[in-house]
Amino acid sequence: MTFLSQTVARTKQAATLAMSQKARELAAQGRDVIALSAGEPDFDTPDNIKQAAWEAMQQGRTKYTPVSGIPELRQAIVDKFRTENGLLYTPSQTIVCNGGKQVIANAMIATLDPGDEVVIPAPYWVSYPETVAMCQGQPVFVPTMAETGFKMTPEALDAAITPRTKWLIMNSPSNPSGAAYTEAELKDLAEVLRHHPHVWIFADDIYEHLVYGDFRFTTMAQVAPELMDRTLTTNGVSKAYAMTGWRIGYGAGPEMLIRAMDKIQGQMTSGACSIAQWAAREALSGPQDFIATSRAVFEQRRDLVVSMLNQAKGLECHTPEGAFYVYPSMARLIGKKAPSGRRIETDEDFVLELLQAEAVALVHGTAFGLGPNFRISYAAATDKLEESCLRIQRFCGNLTD
Ligand SMILES: Cc1ncc(COP(=O)(O)O)c(C=O)c1O
Repeated sequence: MTFLSQTVARTKQAATLAMSQKARELAAQGRDVIALSAGEPDFDTPDNIKQAAWEAMQQGRTKYTPVSGIPELRQAIVDKFRTENGLLYTPSQTIVCNGGKQVIANAMIATLDPGDEVVIPAPYWVSYPETVAMCQGQPVFVPTMAETGFKMTPEALDAAITPRTKWLIMNSPSNPSGAAYTEAELKDLAEVLRHHPHVWIFADDIYEHLVYGDFRFTTMAQVAPELMDRTLTTNGVSKAYAMTGWRIGYGAGPEMLIRAMDKIQGQMTSGACSIAQWAAREALSGPQDFIATSRAVFEQRRDLVVSMLNQAKGLECHTPEGAFYVYPSMARLIGKKAPSGRRIETDEDFVLELLQAEAVALVHGTAFGLGPNFRISYAAATDKLEESCLRIQRFCGNLTD
């Protein structure tokens, strides 16, 4: 008998964190490393939000809060869903969690029994399958292709559903591909789901505000109101308001599920940080101009990165609709020889050789369930992005047969 559990044995270390660690080690050796491996806006949290946190502290709002969140924030969440998404929830249909991550964990713990299946389109955010597996659930992956913009087709969804399916996890715009579903595409998926009334939809909308050009964000419960009573719509302040460290995420859905999630959270962590909750309330109900400003910067960076990567020998980079990631294919570079003399057999070899040769840290696609690709986070200063793309171009140009 071993001391550590089967759950630990089953759980994978996040490749994104492992890559960031490698980048730090190389930097400690004096190399000028550019790390584009983390999914975190490089902007600071807006001042009005910090001010709200300061005021909360001064007013003594520093005690335990209700598990599901302070009423003022739950009301702000209700208002946000109504005005931005046309979704009508009551405060008791909402829950505030310690980051979007805890919304997922709560929902999976509250619903999965061993062997229950969860459909996850690939490439996926690594925490989805890991959280499902921690609950002894079974992730069922649906691979997508660059040709369909890394989006799941209705046929593929239909084929993945079995009588054991509990959830479909949707993440639009997506980490890691940046793909976002149009209203018509969501409606086509909803049509499939209509025929499978036992399947619930987990809509992770955390990148909602980061969509570019004339793309219009929509979410499943909005385009298919008949699915609302089996949809958990989740969101958070981390990406939209540059608040990754404040740890506030939220979800809204049927009260029966929210109550179950509250029960789990009450035993695990209790309510989220009181000060951060007041800050999040200001984020959702205060001035929103930060969103437009950061979106414009991200859009320029996306265009820069896509264009420079498509000029790199052997890379193919699809232009995604949103988030702050691109997901180029390096399939044409498989078998080439790196400056170290080693052959590149996989996308992981590619990112490791690139790190050694040019000190640019990225994450390989197979870590997100679909390769040979890699993910670049363009949530980094524009000059750093430009420099790293030049280094990638040089690296690709230097590969030999
Ligand atoms: C797709 C997706 N969902 C949820 C989260 C969770 O973010 P947080 O826990 O900071 O709210 C992330 C963070 O990287 C993400 O990429």
